[in-house]
Amino acid sequence: MMTAETLNTELRSPRSEVGVAVRLNQVTKEFGTGDTKTLALADINLELPYGELVLLVGPSGCGKTTLISIVAGLLDATRGEAEVLGHNLTRMGNSRKVRFRGDNIGFVFQQYNLLPALTAAENASVPLLISGWSRPKAIARATELLVAVGLKERLNSYPNQLSGGQQQRVAIARALVHEPRLLVCDEPTAALDAASGRTVMDLIRKVAVQPDRAVVVVTHDSRVYDFGDRIVSMGDGRIERIEAKAVPA
Ligand SMILES: Nc1ncnc2c1ncn2[C@@H]1O[C@H](COP(=O)(O)OP(=O)(O)O)[C@@H](O)[C@H]1O
Ligand SMILES: [Mg+2]
Repeated sequence: MMTAETLNTELRSPRSEVGVAVRLNQVTKEFGTGDTKTLALADINLELPYGELVLLVGPSGCGKTTLISIVAGLLDATRGEAEVLGHNLTRMGNSRKVRFRGDNIGFVFQQYNLLPALTAAENASVPLLISGWSRPKAIARATELLVAVGLKERLNSYPNQLSGGQQQRVAIARALVHEPRLLVCDEPTAALDAASGRTVMDLIRKVAVQPDRAVVVVTHDSRVYDFGDRIVSMGDGRIERIEAKAVPA
């Protein structure tokens, strides 16, 4: 039987970890059964290093969202293993996985997934409130990030009072607010104009690209390519190519 104390120790990932941030080992994902069975990921092997922003690109339906959902512990692989920040998610029980995600992972959903009854500042502070911050401190920290993404005038607006691009920026602020060791973003600039897209990618690089952290960004947006250290191209449930880029000085 595991005590609360050993659980805590196990969930706190060591800070100076050698090795890779994400390792997928022969990961396969099938949806449905029989005639309607879809093979979304076919035997994927992938390693993502710490300290980099990795772009995941490929045509619609090729498995990008499925892959990052497995990496973020939101979806279980049908077969194979996912190791994230030194923890094997495949063998982790559900409640531990929820804790692990809350402590270590920031996720920007393609459809934002903001809570409609909460203001922008409240939405962005949710991860901090969950980890026990007081409301005033959480709102203050969330406000800093909302200001950084250009939403200073929108702190008290509700999601239905915000444009798609504004909602997207709230979702990004929420994903960054607890400084996650792994940030996963599904098309984070899809609803943004060029200037907002650059602001957001600059912020993501500044906050989330650190020696003991890692970022994965799914994108169709060629304007985002400059911000990546590595591009992983997918096609039809498979990794087709991995291209490391020289980091601009
Ligand atoms: N919940 C689901 N149920 C059934 N099929 C799904 C589900 N999610 C994704 N798929 C299928 O898996 C494949 C990959 O989808 P997805 O990962 O969303 O692709 P992408 O993000 O690259 O557009 C597609 O064929 C899609 O229809
Ligand atoms: Mg997708």
